[in-house]
Amino acid sequence: MTEMKLLVVGANGGLGRQVVTHSLEHGHQVTALVRRGAGQVETPGLRMVEGAVGDDLAAVRRAVDGQDAIVSALGNPLWLKARTGSAVMARATANLVAAMHLHQVRRIAMPLAWGSGASRQHTAWPLKVLTRLLIRRDYQDFDTAEAILAASGLDFTIAYFGSLTDQPASRAWSAHPDVKPPRPWRSAAPTWPSAWWTPSNPPAPPPTASRSAARRKDDAPMNLTGKTIVLTGASSGLGAEAARLLSAQGAILHLVGRDEKRTKAIGEEVHAPTYTADFTSLSQTRSLAAQLADAVPDIDVLALNAGGVMPPRLTDDGIDANFQANALAPWLLMTQLAGKLGTGRVLLTNSRSHDNAVLSPHNLAAALAGEPRVSGHRTYARAKLAAGVLLREFHRRNPGVDVGDFHPGIMASDFGRYMGRTGSLLKTAARPFIGTPRQGAERLVELATRQQALAGAYFVHARRAKGSAQLQSQELGTALWEAANRATASVSNSAE
Ligand SMILES: NC(=O)c1ccc[n+]([C@@H]2O[C@H](COP(=O)([O-])OP(=O)(O)OC[C@H]3O[C@@H](n4cnc5c(N)ncnc54)[C@H](OP(=O)(O)O)[C@@H]3O)[C@@H](O)[C@H]2O)c1
Repeated sequence: MTEMKLLVVGANGGLGRQVVTHSLEHGHQVTALVRRGAGQVETPGLRMVEGAVGDDLAAVRRAVDGQDAIVSALGNPLWLKARTGSAVMARATANLVAAMHLHQVRRIAMPLAWGSGASRQHTAWPLKVLTRLLIRRDYQDFDTAEAILAASGLDFTIAYFGSLTDQPASRAWSAHPDVKPPRPWRSAAPTWPSAWWTPSNPPAPPPTASRSAARRKDDAPMNLTGKTIVLTGASSGLGAEAARLLSAQGAILHLVGRDEKRTKAIGEEVHAPTYTADFTSLSQTRSLAAQLADAVPDIDVLALNAGGVMPPRLTDDGIDANFQANALAPWLLMTQLAGKLGTGRVLLTNSRSHDNAVLSPHNLAAALAGEPRVSGHRTYARAKLAAGVLLREFHRRNPGVDVGDFHPGIMASDFGRYMGRTGSLLKTAARPFIGTPRQGAERLVELATRQQALAGAYFVHARRAKGSAQLQSQELGTALWEAANRATASVSNSAE
């Protein structure tokens, strides 16, 4: 075996110690990234670098520099067991991937728990329920770590372990024959894992055909290194997951949220500048557009993802809150940033519910004022329809900019927050049966980054779909554009 330079992450843990010992025994040079290195006995062939892999990108970069491969032996302090400690896998993986791109290190091996990511569909239902309810935090973290790797374009190997023991090593092992590589469409030339481990099945050959091979060439994702992406609604749900995925692919991100603390937290995690604005305020939206215009030279993708169902009410601007946050604010941002978009792309997170709504071009003032009075869900649907119509009208006026919108799926995000306790209860009960924010994020990333133009299409998940016929109505587009102009004309930037 060729001697290699290996970085072992999580080297102080049970698995990590074994990896270090075996690697040294096989003559490899090992760097161990550990939180506390003081007091360690000096060992030939072993170098210690101190730093927290999830929080200290500078230390991660130092440790990754010059390695041939990375072996992660990280694990979360499982919430079910300890109920303490933060979930670290996704943050750690994002830092490792960023440092690997920087120092051109290609290979990484990582253990994840059986039942997470690509192994999930092969697990028994009691484990599925358990991992969705009791240890959801950890499994979401594992899922995100997997997605970051799958999106990284690196040569990665993931082993989905069952339970590990302290018994002496056995020579017998087995792997599940059916686990497929995670989300292969993301990786340009992935090296698939050679073994997918579970306790009871025979070893499988590595999968040979991937969906990426089947995808058309022009469907392939663009290289995001150096591309600027402005993402709204990045503080929660699918937006936060999308920020992680896009960051792992090297995009230059500008993240927008409403809640300052949550937005900053995700910005720190992916090392991106953040901005906050409440989209139910026209002056805050204008102010945000001005800040972005100052900060960003050109925008390759504007992902208008913020939104959600709000209780029916009029904002301080006298506009229905659902209409303002879901339709007017994205429109205002898009028009104010048109000069930065050049030949870029605008992708709107729409909702399937828009298909049940109807707008009359002759009565838009009423829709903006929340008339006729209906439930929050119905005004939301109306607003999402309006957002899709305005998007296409924007394209008619800015034909160089590619546009499209999509329904991300029904996801257990923070979407139903306005329903308070009822919303939380419904979310918990429905969680095992509906999608995850990560799945929605993967759809957003796929559409935002694909090379083929979206060309004004509407997608359900990432497939072209019909949507409301009104989406394409030019008469409605012109009328809505004028109504939006009228509604926003008198309100200036809150910073002015
Ligand atoms: N979840 C679903 O089942 C589902 C289905 C169809 C479509 N969608 C759409 O998917 C998108 C993302 O939603 P999600 O499921 O990820 O929900 P989420 O977890 O509630 O995230 C919504 C995001 O939008 C931001 N946002 C909400 N209202 C805002 C306002 N007034 N001003 C500024 N930002 C605001 C939130 O900011 P803060 O967290 O900082 O408040 C958050 O970042 C939305 O456009 C939603 O309409 C969701």
